[in-house]
Amino acid sequence: MRLSFRRIIFLVLVLLSLSLSILLLQSSTTLKQRWNEAWDTEKFDLDSYKAHNLETRRDFHYINYLYSGYYNFTKVFGNDIDRIKQTPLKDKCNVYFNQFYQRNPDWRLFTHNSPDYRFDKSSDKKHLFFKEEQKRLEDKFKKEKRGTDEQFVLTRQDNRTISNQFKEHIARSKEIMYEMADVTTSLRVYGKCFVDQPELDDNQKKTFDDLSSKFFPFLSQQLPMFKVQGEDRSTGWPIIKDDGSVEYKSDVVGENYIDFVKKHSKGKGIVISAATRHAKDVMKLVMILRALNNELPIQIMHKGDITKRSLEWIENAATADVAELLNPDTDTNQGSYMPELKLLESYKDFGSYFPKQNLQFVNIINCINKKYKFHFPGYSNKILAVFFSSFDEVLLLDADTVPLTPPKDFFESQEYQKSGTYYFQDRSLRDTNDFIETNFFTTLSPANEKSIDTLFDIPRITEKTLNNKYMTGWRHYQEAGVVAFKKSQHFMGLLMMFPLMLWTEPVHSSIWGDKELYWIALSAAGDENYEFNPVSAASIGEKTTLSNRKFYPNSPSNEVCSTHPGHVNQDGKLLWINSGFGYCKKNGYFRDRTKFPFSVFDKDELSQLYSSPLQIRAALVPPDLPRFRQPGNPVDDEPEEQFKRSWRFRQKDIDEINEKLPQGAQRTEFITEWGPQKGWVKSSICFGYYYCAYDKVQSYSADKEFDEGRLFEFDEQSVKMYNYLSKVWNTAALRKPGFSKSST
Ligand SMILES: *[C@@H]1O[C@H](CO)[C@@H](O)[C@H](O)[C@H]1NC(C)=O
Ligand SMILES: *[C@@H]1O[C@H](CO)[C@@H](O)[C@H](O)[C@H]1NC(C)=O
Repeated sequence: MRLSFRRIIFLVLVLLSLSLSILLLQSSTTLKQRWNEAWDTEKFDLDSYKAHNLETRRDFHYINYLYSGYYNFTKVFGNDIDRIKQTPLKDKCNVYFNQFYQRNPDWRLFTHNSPDYRFDKSSDKKHLFFKEEQKRLEDKFKKEKRGTDEQFVLTRQDNRTISNQFKEHIARSKEIMYEMADVTTSLRVYGKCFVDQPELDDNQKKTFDDLSSKFFPFLSQQLPMFKVQGEDRSTGWPIIKDDGSVEYKSDVVGENYIDFVKKHSKGKGIVISAATRHAKDVMKLVMILRALNNELPIQIMHKGDITKRSLEWIENAATADVAELLNPDTDTNQGSYMPELKLLESYKDFGSYFPKQNLQFVNIINCINKKYKFHFPGYSNKILAVFFSSFDEVLLLDADTVPLTPPKDFFESQEYQKSGTYYFQDRSLRDTNDFIETNFFTTLSPANEKSIDTLFDIPRITEKTLNNKYMTGWRHYQEAGVVAFKKSQHFMGLLMMFPLMLWTEPVHSSIWGDKELYWIALSAAGDENYEFNPVSAASIGEKTTLSNRKFYPNSPSNEVCSTHPGHVNQDGKLLWINSGFGYCKKNGYFRDRTKFPFSVFDKDELSQLYSSPLQIRAALVPPDLPRFRQPGNPVDDEPEEQFKRSWRFRQKDIDEINEKLPQGAQRTEFITEWGPQKGWVKSSICFGYYYCAYDKVQSYSADKEFDEGRLFEFDEQSVKMYNYLSKVWNTAALRKPGFSKSST
């Protein structure tokens, strides 16, 4: 086409007037609104929200994640994957970390504690986000217009503001997730390049040191202080020399902390993290360990937050003569509980010889830089305890756990022998988690074929992770009251726990403390060689025999109600229980006396029950639930929503019926018309710690009547042993603060 001068002038004029009118439109607010409205097609209804949620899940799905430096990395090798695979590791490491430094020379592990830079777990729940924000607007309106009778009206503009806010949240959440996944990717590569290598040259050492201070900026140069019982002075970290002599080190100046802990963690032992409030439980636990003839050394890890007097009590429990410990004259409980069982006279009959315990108190307060002091949530103490313990093979015990088998058995278990870990499963409660959570943890793990991990021969996670209870939609998988862990074998997994611990959200609200961290961190490190006890948590106590005390008197199911979860191994042997040995660790009988089934107890029986240790005669393991979510995080949540909806058509359990009772309505005490619908039914007894467990639950599949769990009943000899241990745990002959030397 020939462009004449006239045509050009005409075109320019048209363009000018067009842009002018746009400018005009934009500058006047009412016109602007019209303009926006003309383009505004966004819909605000449930179906649109759902469609959007699906889109977000598709977008967030772990399959889309690729390390941000992936293409820069492969470019160096001419994008030739085979060539990369054949390149020596050392050279690949060089390229990777050179680029890492180039991109962000000042990088350090971030903590993301700021409230306005946070992963938002409602990213795939647009409907909820809207509901909350709309409510917030309404509340604000009502507050401002209090006293007037103006009605709150939600405008389209309000909806659009919320929508924009939501878009920002989603974008930020994805950014944070990818940022975190980049960190775990780089940490895996760091492990492969430096931690797992037997020899490093000087250059590599320099990089290793520098990277270690970037990934673990909270580590000071101080080592923990070890105080051996009976001695007033502390020593540093014990280093066992080739000739068997020991040297003590108090800092790692001039060395690499990570390398130091890996090299110098030696031997096997029990590790307990404790503060003053745990002292009484620790003392009781030490008594149990003596009764079980434990010979493993014990390290009690603290942050200087345990009083000198508590240390003295615990030491006394560990070293006092058995005649003093079991002295009937000082045991004020002696008469009230199993008076016929005389501990001092009969402990040998139970095979106990009460060896003195080898105890060390380990203060780790100076190992964490002051700046990071408040970054570690309370539950992280246990993970710090494992890391800073000088043992390589650690049996990590919560202060209120009670082992019922000698601790060395945990190390001798088939599971530990096979994997260097022995983990335990939690109660299989019918609590679900969300796509966004399981997807987040999978994104943090080496999950994709196309990934940096593949190029570095880092193993990808398999069905073992993707098909486990948590990843298939259940909230509770691990119970971490007892964890056996070989540090040298799972060192990268241990290091991976640190970022997970420091990133409060979304980790914190997705896994309840440290509970699930032990397996998640290992999977995230590409290490799936961990083993769980195959039997889920059991309810430990006595089978309900009197039918007027049963919650489902007409059900064929057995019932064991208790505040104590416990763990039975494959052979039906009871290994440990949780929450001490008391009947209820939270309160006395008075608060619970009107609640069924205690309402049908006579008063003396009930007060006796609450003041006595738990009677162990049975362990009931309810059936596991079927998968809630299919492995691999399907983006379509309709199947799981459907499964959840189907629960509404089941009968209700006591806990559901009583949950949202209208005021003044009668609580349901027991149900005669049907049987239990869940394996674990919660009660308000003992501050909500009380659960009843069932081994015949109305099935979740159509082809049978019941899903079946397992009931283990213990023989007379075992019951006697548990009674004996409960009495040891409950003995009051231990030195108390009032009697301690330092107080006189
Ligand atoms: C990739 O390399 C280019 C050029 O060196 C650099 O500008 C860019 O930031 C790098 N991108 C990433 C994600 O590392
Ligand atoms: C705003 O959104 C809600 C749903 O979140 C919808 O019910 C309402 O009709 C919308 N209001 C306007 C004016 O668009």
